[in-house]
Amino acid sequence: MTANAQPEVYEEAARDRLAFWEKMARRLEWAQQWDTVLEWELPYAKWFVGGKLNASVNCVDRHVAAGRGDKVAFHWIGDGERDRRDVTYADLHRQVCQAANALLDLGVQAGDQIAIYMPMIPETVVAMLACARIGAPHTVVFCGFSAEALRSRILDCGCRVVITVDGQFRRGSSAPVKPIVDDALTACPDVRRVLVVRRTGNDVAWTAGRDRWWHEVVDEQSVQHEAQAFDAEHPLYIMYTSGTTAKPKGILHTTGGYLTHVSATHHYVFDLKPETDVYWCAADIAWVTGHSYIVYGPLANGATSILYEGTPHPGDKDRWWKLIEHHKVTILYTAPTTIRTLMKWGAEELEPYDLSSLRILGSVGEPINPEAWIWYHTHVGGSRAPVVDTWWQTETGGIMITPLPGISEAKPGAAMQSFPGVSADVVDNEGKPVPNGSGGFLVLTEPWPGMLRGIWGDDQQYRDTYWSRFKGAYFAGDGAKKDEDGDLWLLGRVDDVMNVSGHRISTTEIEHALVGHPSVAEAAVVGASDATTGQAIVAFVTVRSHVADEVANGERFAEELRNHVAAVIGPIAKPRQVIITPELPKTRSGKIMRRLLRDIADGRELGDVTTLLDATVTDLIRERMADRAEEREG
Ligand code: WTA
Repeated sequence: MTANAQPEVYEEAARDRLAFWEKMARRLEWAQQWDTVLEWELPYAKWFVGGKLNASVNCVDRHVAAGRGDKVAFHWIGDGERDRRDVTYADLHRQVCQAANALLDLGVQAGDQIAIYMPMIPETVVAMLACARIGAPHTVVFCGFSAEALRSRILDCGCRVVITVDGQFRRGSSAPVKPIVDDALTACPDVRRVLVVRRTGNDVAWTAGRDRWWHEVVDEQSVQHEAQAFDAEHPLYIMYTSGTTAKPKGILHTTGGYLTHVSATHHYVFDLKPETDVYWCAADIAWVTGHSYIVYGPLANGATSILYEGTPHPGDKDRWWKLIEHHKVTILYTAPTTIRTLMKWGAEELEPYDLSSLRILGSVGEPINPEAWIWYHTHVGGSRAPVVDTWWQTETGGIMITPLPGISEAKPGAAMQSFPGVSADVVDNEGKPVPNGSGGFLVLTEPWPGMLRGIWGDDQQYRDTYWSRFKGAYFAGDGAKKDEDGDLWLLGRVDDVMNVSGHRISTTEIEHALVGHPSVAEAAVVGASDATTGQAIVAFVTVRSHVADEVANGERFAEELRNHVAAVIGPIAKPRQVIITPELPKTRSGKIMRRLLRDIADGRELGDVTTLLDATVTDLIRERMADRAEEREG
């Protein structure tokens, strides 16, 4: 079978970038053609100006209209063995129409923002597509985030409606979700409606007039809904992501360019053959990877996907391999942290299973170390399936740097080269491209269709964060190098953003949470190297004077602070370690020297300490870390 991408695709895009993207846009169904491909007034881009389309029609209706209604869109597999459901494109069409009608009945209008706080169930996809269908931008919030994190997102983008569940299943047991929403909404006066999907059947508190059951409101609706086409630049969603400030940024994505980008990359990077492939992206829908490569990209391409509610855990080490064998999965897309976990459990776990259906393996979220790359290729891919290491960000909307199966000779650990029509480069401090064999900062030198259209409600931050470091180029916040062949290798963040298990977590956000605790005076957070999670969160904390030494130095207090962070932000932000110290290492001008704390956390020799005010501080912190390590082992 020939690969979707032929070598000419690079030349074609290089010859005329805009013509290439126009060709990609024509893979979609437009109600009205665009007049102008790109209007670019740095740093604001508009793509396919004048064009009109409906994202939900592109993801659902057109496949049904083409006679593919019986094709499975999702094989949904719930957390436990008990739940399984196949959702065809025709099912999806009926449900999305009903949900869209229900939202309209609840008074939602185009342009209203809707928050979705839901786990990995088909209704989450239905809810997103129903929002898109009526032009109401969605904000999906990861179901593991705290009430406070949910509230700040709802307030920041002014949501009036929240769609959620009564509870969710995780590793075989149920956990409440609606109470978290209730808590969040105690200070969100604009939220008028909460639509609740019944998932666990557990009792939940009910606010009359505000709360409605999904099955009562949605199921009675007509299965027909005439979708209206929206402007190519109509907002599709806002996705919050951590930056270098304490407050997460609302990244805005619009419709036409985004859908063009995610569907084209999904088609080429995964070499998708919709008739025969069974595709599985194992991310959570609530992250950008889920939005682009579980929902919008695959559905726009008419793919059959796996939607799996669970995550790999030690009690169920061969679950993934069972699923792959059973469903004859052909394409698997996951994160290096998961690969390293599966690798730790050993190849014996997968040996009993027939994984020969797999033909493409994808990686995303953090740099993949060559060892994990080789294990993935050898054991999961039977030394046969190519690995595509895909670099991109919430802000880029879709994949930007990647090998293409059938064309590129991939190197273990390298993301290789820009996707056709994308211009990535590596520059030095002055913004000059570095020669082959050198490292620097990753930039994007031309606008691309899936790019963010701004930070919700904060233009200045948009300019400052991405467009001020290097003139005329987008600064990604990542370090990178070009090897002797000019191929690209990603080297991790160069700012205060950590990458823990492929999740972006801001050091500042955690410091903010810690100093919000009544006993904490100061906090400094760093990412330490971790063999499984890539980075791990280590916090150094000084306490307020009212806290007695015995309390501060007890293990229980450190534990309390770890739990405090989990409660304020969510369990994914819980520090691996909290070290209480009488002082933080500071420069003479009073700046915390995080660089030294990183050295300490990694157990390295300290770098340059000449600017350090008091050198005894670092010795003391090292001792504390050693004590804690001993206690843990003992
Ligand atoms: C990192 C996830 C190296 C990078 C899609 C980026 C990667 C951040 C890769 C974005 C990769 C993502 N190799 N690093 N293949 N993919 N990253 O917004 O630091 O959650 O800036 O988007 O993850 O994370 P985000």
